[in-house]
Amino acid sequence: MSTSTRGNAGRVVVLGSVNLDLHLQVERHPRGGETLLAADLERRFGGKGGNQAVAAAHAGATTSVVGAVGDDEPGREYRRRLGAFGVDAGALREVPGAPTGTAVICVDADGENTIVVAPGANHRVSTEDLVALDGLTERDVLLAQLELPLDVVAEGVRRAAAAGARVVLNLAPFAVLEPGVLELADPVVVNEHEAEQLRAAGAEPPSLLVTLGAAGSRWDGLEVPGQRVEHVVDTTGAGDSFCGVLAARLAAGDDRRAAVEAATTAAALTVQHEGAQPAAPGAAG
Ligand code: RIB
Repeated sequence: MSTSTRGNAGRVVVLGSVNLDLHLQVERHPRGGETLLAADLERRFGGKGGNQAVAAAHAGATTSVVGAVGDDEPGREYRRRLGAFGVDAGALREVPGAPTGTAVICVDADGENTIVVAPGANHRVSTEDLVALDGLTERDVLLAQLELPLDVVAEGVRRAAAAGARVVLNLAPFAVLEPGVLELADPVVVNEHEAEQLRAAGAEPPSLLVTLGAAGSRWDGLEVPGQRVEHVVDTTGAGDSFCGVLAARLAAGDDRRAAVEAATTAAALTVQHEGAQPAAPGAAG
């Protein structure tokens, strides 16, 4: 893991998934048992971990990613892409014989999506990979989601918190974690659906940030309005941009309001283009 920082800011270390996204543009989502034809198929870079790492780096944070890809071309392409954004992928392990994670994403005419993920190499990340968290300090932020094995995420959160680092824990896709883990995050980040699931599970994290789509977000007592977007193209990467920029700004020393406002702006920009990540620096389009 890189030990350099930009200015006085802490680093963002993303413990998370890296996927190849197969992005299908559909007029509407299929019903059970129905076959539909897509207007278009695009291969894109995705995975909640990869998306959040790119967003954090794009926001100026010194960023690294801990996870795994397959020993295949998508995995190699992804490593090069992370490099283009300045993300340190030294702790992104290549797993022999495993495919890089793949997500099938359907986006309808209103920009709403459904996502099904085949985890592939992401589910081969183990607690041994957490050696990459050894250099964390109280200035750094660990940013994690739940597309890796849950015991690994839980252990990563415990180690980061023990080192004094701030933990931003995005409970997506929703799952119940071992007791005591949510209490270590500041904040736990959920969308409205995940907030419902959290309530149903009887969990009450002490620091909870709920994103409310166009309506903005609520972090305990702090309410931040959303930003008006004329034309929503694709909501796939909105939550990830939000989390990545939130982590970057908290690592830079912003207070809650300033960090959430920057994250809200990033999410609003993301829904206005296709795909979960911005174009790579120097790339056309
Ligand atoms: O949050 C969006 C991401 O979820 C997609 O990029 C897909 O890969 C899944 O991980």
